[in-house]
Amino acid sequence: MKRLTSIADLTSEQLLSLVDRASSHRDTIDTGHSPLPSLTGVVVAPMFFEPSTRTRLSFEMATSRLGGTTMSFTPETSSSVKGESLRDTALTLTAIGADVMVVRHSEAGAPDRVSEWTGVPVVNAGDGAREHPTQALIDIVTLVRRFGAIEGTRVVITGDIAHSRVAGSLIPALVKLGASVALCAPSGWLPKRDDVTTTTELEPALREADVAYLLRVQTERGGEVTDRYVNDFQLDRRRSELMARDAVIMHPGPMNRGVEISDSVADGPRSLILEQVRNGPAARMAALEYVTGTLG
Ligand code: NCD
Repeated sequence: MKRLTSIADLTSEQLLSLVDRASSHRDTIDTGHSPLPSLTGVVVAPMFFEPSTRTRLSFEMATSRLGGTTMSFTPETSSSVKGESLRDTALTLTAIGADVMVVRHSEAGAPDRVSEWTGVPVVNAGDGAREHPTQALIDIVTLVRRFGAIEGTRVVITGDIAHSRVAGSLIPALVKLGASVALCAPSGWLPKRDDVTTTTELEPALREADVAYLLRVQTERGGEVTDRYVNDFQLDRRRSELMARDAVIMHPGPMNRGVEISDSVADGPRSLILEQVRNGPAARMAALEYVTGTLG
């Protein structure tokens, strides 16, 4: 029984095969054709204990495009509010008929626990500040479709890296595929890693980057927006013009415009932000096929 809860569980070959599959799903979607219904009869239960727009909706879209069904579950209107534990809720959804769970939870490791308790395949849709592997898959697909390959691409990741599960998956995914990764943030938000470089100076880092990947300040996990942060780290038009001519800007969403990114950059010609969103259903189709063993 497979799960996709951490990038560390994938070899680079497995990751690349997921990227290829997702990219081919994206092509199929764009041409208006239907993909092979590899999830016919499969019931996917989204268990989202934290807010979500893109991730939840794109998992639902992915399931329906592959011929599966989603069970609708929202913790706020479920017995979770009556004190039912995560374990009992997960066992209940499985007993009702969930074949796959997609879990977002504020506790690191919750998706792995759900998988152990229930014995069904689980995809991690974000666990605390730890990992968000399908967002990394989206981002790698977006980069491969833009640049052809990840090897040698220079990526600067900036923002609240310390509290970001997006960074927790994106950094190892990029490193695994041979990108050169720089982390840029106030020193308190810079994790200690020996496979990347770190800096507190945004402008020199932008001059050396093919990709600027911005992260929201995770106020729900301890990050704090200060005037100094906005002044020193916001990617505005002037700073974006320091980047190479073909360089691009990415953000997993939701954006806080006027904090980590200005309107002109968010909506500007270098922005791949909506392209990332467009790759969401395709990446989640590949992820669901991977955990259900139908990835060809
Ligand atoms: C992220 C999340 O929830 O981790 N959103 C997403 O899935 N695209 C990023 C964030 O909330 O900042």
